[in-house]
Amino acid sequence: MIFYFTGTGNSKWIAELLSKKLEEEMVSINDLLKSELTSYEFNVKPKERIVLVFPVYSWGLPTPIKVFIDRLTLINVNDMGLYAVATCGDNAGLTNLMLKKKLEEKNLRLNSCHTVQMPNCYIVIPGFDVDSKEVEEDKIAHAEARVDLIVKAILENRQDDTLYRKGKIAWLKSKMIYPSFIKYTYKTKFYATEACNHCGLCAKLCPMNNITIKDGVPAWSEKCVQCLACINRCPQRAIEYGNITKNKGRYFFKNN
Ligand SMILES: Cc1cc2nc3c(=O)[nH]c(=O)nc-3n(C[C@H](O)[C@H](O)[C@H](O)COP(=O)(O)O)c2cc1C
Repeated sequence: MIFYFTGTGNSKWIAELLSKKLEEEMVSINDLLKSELTSYEFNVKPKERIVLVFPVYSWGLPTPIKVFIDRLTLINVNDMGLYAVATCGDNAGLTNLMLKKKLEEKNLRLNSCHTVQMPNCYIVIPGFDVDSKEVEEDKIAHAEARVDLIVKAILENRQDDTLYRKGKIAWLKSKMIYPSFIKYTYKTKFYATEACNHCGLCAKLCPMNNITIKDGVPAWSEKCVQCLACINRCPQRAIEYGNITKNKGRYFFKNN
């Protein structure tokens, strides 16, 4: 089973590649979170591989992954434990250790965690923007070969971290910056401009059901996890975040 969470489509594409190559079915964490369910129970078949695929947020675990694990029950989970593939624009810090600890709370074992570099979608703080078209295409062009290496590592049950990109000053990023990111995300500064054509896609995409449409106009409440699906995927480019995003690019994976 390939469980995936995605904001802008990168992790969904990586999950699709893993699903094809490992011959495991995909389960959308976005759909589970949007549903009425508050607990998720799955039967694991003998020899079935369980892989979690998700984006790195501020060198740590996205809140939706933590919520998913809190609500998850795996019946008959086998000795292989769980594998993880984190997508990131650059590097993942100590996300692997955070995930290991989070899974241990549910008596689940992280077998190995790997990373795949994909185009950046983080645009809501000064100094961060989407990649140039050239960098974007280059990352996508290299991603499938990386997935092949990861599939090989999973099938061989290798537990080293050679396919994990931790980056420099990982401790500082994950232990000092990540906690403030988590606190700050809920205070959303999103709004729709006059370009909004009231299509409602933002509300449909929001994995946390955090966007409601009032008189045709989207309104954000305080449960935002900053997946940035709304702002990056708006077909009218009608969503902004304070004054920060006015001159920035937008990105989402185009095959989704
Ligand atoms: C809130 C947020 C924080 C991010 N933090 C990081 C980071 O710490 N390191 C990194 O390399 N990329 C970071 N990124 C980029 C994403 O991890 C990357 O673009 C990912 O592939 C997006 O996956 P998705 O399209 O499945 O949502 C961040 C993106 C968002 C939205």
